[in-house]
Amino acid sequence: MDQKFLINGGKKLKGEINISGAKNAVLKLMAAALLLDDACEIHNVPELADVQIMVEVLRSLGAKVDYDTDEKKIIIDATTLTSVEACYELVSKMRASFTVLGALLGRCKEAKVALPGGCSIGERRIDFHIKGLEALGAQIKIEGGYVIAKAKKLVGTTVYLDRPSVGATENIMIAAILAEGSTIISNAAQEPEIVDLANFLNALGGDVTGAGTSEIIINGVKQKDLHPTIYTTIPDRIEAGTYIAAIVATRGKGIIRNIFPSHLSAVISKLTDMGANINILDPFSIEISCGKIINAVNIVTQPHPGFPTDLQSPFMSVLAVAEGISVITESIYENRFRQIGELTRMGANVQQEGNRAIVKGVKSLTGAQVRASDLRAGASLLVAALCAEGTTEITDLYHIDRGYEKVMEKLSGLGADIQRVNITENDINAKLIADEIHVI
Ligand code: EPU
Repeated sequence: MDQKFLINGGKKLKGEINISGAKNAVLKLMAAALLLDDACEIHNVPELADVQIMVEVLRSLGAKVDYDTDEKKIIIDATTLTSVEACYELVSKMRASFTVLGALLGRCKEAKVALPGGCSIGERRIDFHIKGLEALGAQIKIEGGYVIAKAKKLVGTTVYLDRPSVGATENIMIAAILAEGSTIISNAAQEPEIVDLANFLNALGGDVTGAGTSEIIINGVKQKDLHPTIYTTIPDRIEAGTYIAAIVATRGKGIIRNIFPSHLSAVISKLTDMGANINILDPFSIEISCGKIINAVNIVTQPHPGFPTDLQSPFMSVLAVAEGISVITESIYENRFRQIGELTRMGANVQQEGNRAIVKGVKSLTGAQVRASDLRAGASLLVAALCAEGTTEITDLYHIDRGYEKVMEKLSGLGADIQRVNITENDINAKLIADEIHVI
């Protein structure tokens, strides 16, 4: 049954929070596990709708997958694969499943993977993925909505990416593990999730160096060199950044545990400019607090180590209640300001001018009925609702559930007044009316 959040805002968040494993890392580790003709084990796996979809994708290819949500671990046994086709029904539910392309091509030298298509936040092309895999020797055609790739063998080469695409870097890196010779990815993505994938591939017996810099070198190994491993996923820096935004927006105080503070350097720097106090307590925890005044700051989203696009929307909610005017420039996606309309309904003063949002801070937001249009827009509404006066209802929670494990429990633990309730007949009628208004 569809559900919604009811949030009574205006309470300062206080307490401690434990961050889960990184969604955008674990999904790629799961795909990479297809390279091994044996079983491997991944720990610190968050319980998320997207992980469940990846489980289904791997099973559809013939892998045996045991996903233990209590133990937060997953065992993937890809000894026998029965298919090289990832179907549209699954890939269209979650773009990250497109990463099985590189793994299937590397292991089986053929793959048929549905094109993920655009999504609500942008066009999200895959041309760099294709260019990179072709450079390794794959013949690729696009037919009937599928990428069909075949190779007699893959041979290492240098691939330059026009943009440091996370997904393309990952697909090429995975495919190159079992290629002959060395592959260099130049202008590679440098996100912590890329480093995690490289560490996982090395733990499986691969030979990857340079991850975390703009040049990654993959020295091909033989299938027999790969071996089982037990690997622990990195913490989710975007989940951490979202809770930090919520604490700051409510002028609260909290300790964020199980994180790597260095993954959040750009965010911590902006928080300092905003007037928040940040204390690195130990290598895995930070303490954050914020007084009455939040300073306006300008933010430009950029590939890592720049400010992450995935935190742009939650931070817009913080800046909506800051002192003064902030300018947010979104440079990664064409359409990642979908929260603006809903924030405006809560009293925010935000004007969009192309890829810039001019945020004029207001004294406070007020509760309203709002809908999450995508995962991070949903996170932005959560932050806004927590600091708003009155009650906010957030619907279309499935977006938020894709990326935030036990979000209600974690926020309640910080003292938030938040409930998850079933959608009523009245809500459905109101949604139908709202949909009609959107269509008109
Ligand atoms: N791009 C191309 N051609 C390509 C690939 C990408 O033009 O072949 C463009 C995209 O259209 C986009 C930009 O490059 O405008 C960045 O795309 P990138 O490939 O770096 O992103 P991604 O791999 O599709 C991952 C995360 C996103 C996160 C981005 C950027 C996963 C599953 N997704 O996407 O996370 O925003 O990197 O850091 O890892 C989220 O978690 O909410 C989310 C969207």
